[in-house]
Amino acid sequence: MSRKVLAALGGAVLALSMAACSGEGAGSGGNDSDKPADLTIGVSMPTQTSERWIADGNSVKEKLTAKGYQVDLQYAGDDIPTQSQQIDQMILRGADVLIIAAIDGTALSGQLQAAADAKIPVIAYDRLIRDSPNVDFYVSFDNYKVGVAQATALLVGLGVQNKDGSKGEAKGPFNIELFAGSLDDNNAHFFFKGAMDTLKPFIDEGTLKVKSGQTKIEQVATLRWQQETAQTRMEDLLTSSYNDKTKVDGVLSPYDGISRGIITALQNAGYRDDIPVVTGQDAEIASVKLINDGVQNSTIFKDTRLLAEQAVVAGEAFLQEKTPEANDTETYDNGVKVVPSYLLPVETVYKDDIQKILIDSGYYTAEEVAAGQAKG
Ligand code: BGC
Repeated sequence: MSRKVLAALGGAVLALSMAACSGEGAGSGGNDSDKPADLTIGVSMPTQTSERWIADGNSVKEKLTAKGYQVDLQYAGDDIPTQSQQIDQMILRGADVLIIAAIDGTALSGQLQAAADAKIPVIAYDRLIRDSPNVDFYVSFDNYKVGVAQATALLVGLGVQNKDGSKGEAKGPFNIELFAGSLDDNNAHFFFKGAMDTLKPFIDEGTLKVKSGQTKIEQVATLRWQQETAQTRMEDLLTSSYNDKTKVDGVLSPYDGISRGIITALQNAGYRDDIPVVTGQDAEIASVKLINDGVQNSTIFKDTRLLAEQAVVAGEAFLQEKTPEANDTETYDNGVKVVPSYLLPVETVYKDDIQKILIDSGYYTAEEVAAGQAKG
């Protein structure tokens, strides 16, 4: 029986909860006689509503296809059952490796058990999959440092700190508000922790005031990172905490989509040249334009091309029955084990950095930045 047939059967066997599947397991990570064209990598992405995941999916697919592999790329529309089903299907269709960016990092234990039973290595892509022993590798960025960089950009934007880390001229006090990402995404916690560790001394000394009093991640989180949810919360904050003619000076935002929701709420409330310092993440083209136009303060650039490359390197290592190279084996405890990780660095992009970091590197063209739209 061919490996592929075994692979398909492996999934079925699992479904029937039959324990023994002796001999070569389904999707057993390939061997020397396998040609790339015989091997399929299942790539499960969360959503197409945010550009970054489209870029991630395309990059991973292109790189794998260029090496001759088959790619089964699926987007789950930010719906947890859809993602679970798509991964079930990938296993049944005989995937040899799975690359997964989870919607809810705690919701995939069943699928990961099925993958492990079928001997399919699992790579968590950018978002750690939690509560499962069956995560073999993690590729991401330094997520704590993303939070530090966001908070630092807020401090620099307010003039409290200079770009070189020295103390800025501005004394404050400044009114700020805080936003975090989706609580079911492990990254949201890392971003917020990095940011709060950086902001806390300034809050403690009174330079920064969170006027709403909402400083706990549970109070400031944004389910599924949704722009509309963030807009509504910002509108509510303006009505409840800034109805006394005081102004918001800065907003910590963890993601460009959330930033755009916040900016829309602020503009609807009349903010123009006095728009607060709003941070971001992902260098989404619409936000890069806002930064270029002086509306959004900054974003954190995570080069998805490099992340995709790392996922491919790790995937190939598993297919060759090797252990992928990790550069962090301590930070990412998923509740069951510390998952060996490869973490990439991030860069803060202010208006002055757009040319060098985003255009010269070929991530966007100058025309795309001016239009605020990427050309497919
Ligand atoms: C990613 C961020 C992204 C966010 C929303 C996080 O897991 O690390 O880059 O902004 O999800 O999509």
